[in-house]
Amino acid sequence: KRPVAAPDKDLARPVTKVGVIGAGLMASQFALLFARRLQVPVVITDVSAERVDKGLSSIRDEIAKLEQKGRLDGDAANRLRALVTGTTEKAEFSDCDFVIEAVFEETAVKQQVFREIEQFVAEDAILATNTSSLSVEEIGSVLAHPERLIGFHFFNPVAVMPLVEVVRTPQASDAAVSTAFVVAKALKKNAIGSADAPGFIVNRLLAKVMGEAARAVDEGAALTDVEHAFGPLGLPMGPFELIDLVGWKVAAHVQDTMATHFPDRFYSSPNLHALAELDAPLERDKKGRITGWSKEAKKAIDVGRSP
Ligand code: 3HC
Repeated sequence: KRPVAAPDKDLARPVTKVGVIGAGLMASQFALLFARRLQVPVVITDVSAERVDKGLSSIRDEIAKLEQKGRLDGDAANRLRALVTGTTEKAEFSDCDFVIEAVFEETAVKQQVFREIEQFVAEDAILATNTSSLSVEEIGSVLAHPERLIGFHFFNPVAVMPLVEVVRTPQASDAAVSTAFVVAKALKKNAIGSADAPGFIVNRLLAKVMGEAARAVDEGAALTDVEHAFGPLGLPMGPFELIDLVGWKVAAHVQDTMATHFPDRFYSSPNLHALAELDAPLERDKKGRITGWSKEAKKAIDVGRSP
């Protein structure tokens, strides 16, 4: 693979309007972050007006919280409210210079949204995927201009986590990569470059931790024992709290990807997949601390399972 080239800010495309495809949890956080840090209009879209409205209302709630905390004054909050709009019409993306997607984690779904959006945006608009472990090159293979696609992988909670991975495919143009680094800096994130390898860099590390935590449970360890092992190491969250934060399905998908590509090095737990089908695998106390598995989860976990 070609090494990640050093970004060149002279090559970066100026960003005057951002498009966000998807209006779910992560996408809504992107919209707010881009509007707040770049101070440019941001338009979000999704498959239905209801989903767009839900996304917009969660953005308004976050703006209200920032205002209450005194992080934004009234004028700045109102400016932000005006900057973020929603639509189901992709034509409203035609003047976006930077479009990022956070839709369902499946190559075909991401390919479809980019193929559609490519019909509307300018030829040199930059496209970014927030995929956590799919091949960016494969997603871009359906595009007329795959050189404009980069991976731009954020971490939950987006507002707080300081990192973003910039994933460069062999086809990616220097303009696309440079734009990604310049945008990341404007978002006040630390950008690291990664080749388009399974799990990029962060999930390659995290999948080890999550996989071994799941394996310990598969072998009979108590959930709370595994969780509490983490605190003394100085990490802010135990492995299952982290899985709960990123989403069980996402975590199971990351484990699968890594185990498929590196079967000798990564473990994909059948219990993790069973838990991913449940609404709430964890039981928590009033303060939100994990106290054990939920009733449903206890039925789903099969100790001694191995693939
Ligand atoms: N949205 C916005 N702000 C949030 C937030 C959210 N979802 N969650 C927390 N915050 C803010 C709080 O409002 C608070 O802000 P304030 O200082 O202005 O009041 C600040 O973050 C700190 O929050 P808390 O005091 O409530 O809690 P903690 O000090 O316990 O920190 C944490 C919470 C930052 C989430 C910390 O536990 C942490 O860093 N956890 C690890 C998270 C992590 O590793 N994420 C990566 C997951 S991997 C991933 O996403 C990739 C995927 O591909 C798998």
